[in-house]
Amino acid sequence: MEWEGWMRQALALAERGRGSVEPNPLVGAVVLDAAGQFAGEGWHQRFGGPHAEVFALAAAGERARGGTLIVTLEPCCHHGKTPPCTTAIRNAGISRVVAAMSDPFPKVAGGGLAQLRAAGIAVDVGVCEAEARQLNAPYLKLLHTGRPWVHAKWAMSLDGKIATRTGHSQWISGPAARQIVHELRGRMDAILVGRGTVVADDPLLTARPPGPRVAARVVVSASGQLPDQCRLRQTVREAPVIIYTAQPHRLAGWAADGAEIVAIQQPDGFVDAILADLGQRRFTNVLVEGGAGLLGAVCDAAAADEFHVFIAPKVIGGQAALSPVAGTGCATVADALALERWHVQPVGPDLYLHGFTPRCAASA
Ligand SMILES: NC(=O)c1ccc[n+]([C@@H]2O[C@H](COP(=O)([O-])OP(=O)(O)OC[C@H]3O[C@@H](n4cnc5c(N)ncnc54)[C@H](OP(=O)(O)O)[C@@H]3O)[C@@H](O)[C@H]2O)c1
Repeated sequence: MEWEGWMRQALALAERGRGSVEPNPLVGAVVLDAAGQFAGEGWHQRFGGPHAEVFALAAAGERARGGTLIVTLEPCCHHGKTPPCTTAIRNAGISRVVAAMSDPFPKVAGGGLAQLRAAGIAVDVGVCEAEARQLNAPYLKLLHTGRPWVHAKWAMSLDGKIATRTGHSQWISGPAARQIVHELRGRMDAILVGRGTVVADDPLLTARPPGPRVAARVVVSASGQLPDQCRLRQTVREAPVIIYTAQPHRLAGWAADGAEIVAIQQPDGFVDAILADLGQRRFTNVLVEGGAGLLGAVCDAAAADEFHVFIAPKVIGGQAALSPVAGTGCATVADALALERWHVQPVGPDLYLHGFTPRCAASA
């Protein structure tokens, strides 16, 4: 009980690294001196950079001696891009480590905690573990399944349309909502759209202004029938373009311009094959931006983990106008995907609904 407040502070620090540290985990740390007073804090700030423990111990300096380190993830015990944190903790004279959870990363996996105990340091594990697992759900999913965390996003009218009957969709939501989408894009490893969206919207799929990382722009097109002239193709050299297709020969022109063409042969398992390939690249977070066909395939495959939905106070109407999620869908309402941990936030004239699929906590 006594450590929970400090652990929440460490979790909030860890959050600051989101978008900058992946595929590493988000980690935050707080050091208390021997009298239990705050002495220093830190967080993992960028991929390949020093770990949270190193920053927190440096901030605490000599006050760390005999003190307690509160950290959101088991300290590492291997030489990776940086030296082991367990050594830094021992050298700083820390007498107790309180960790929210052990790190399932194979080179750590309990080894860090064991090294600390062997060095005579008291170790407590499991403080605020559920929150720590939620914080690092994308990292944990990639580690456990080899698949990235899938964010699904759409903007729709009050009557549930993502475009008019003519396919026109720019813009359903207002500038404040679109700004949130650009912030999301700026911390993704990939942004996915279907061929229909490339044809209808000619999107750029870049983050404007740029965020901490540059996402690969991914087009899903079994047929490979993409337009010869479009902004994605014109900007291939500015940010990577990957096309998943069953007809790679149709995309030789795109390949010559610099796009990466990946052939997928499983017509029934297209979505999973794509996610497996993105996971191989150690992509941690990917954003599916539509349209209805691709979002339908993703939902039919039960592949989405987190939803970002914008509702605009507009009525579009029209039987032929698309709703956000096509695919096969479910037969009864009881079978519908019921999301949890919903937040509803007004953004300008629109509403931003943000939630998770229930299995996320379990998969983490
Ligand atoms: N409001 C919004 O948030 C929003 C966002 C995006 C798009 N939109 C609108 O949505 C409309 C486009 O939606 P859409 O449903 O027509 O098109 P879409 O989902 O963008 O693209 C559908 C195409 O993607 C490929 N595809 C999707 N799932 C696949 C799978 N599992 N396996 C293989 N290929 C797959 C197929 O390409 P092939 O035919 O080449 O095989 C399919 O025809 C446009 O009007 C656009 O403006 C709105």
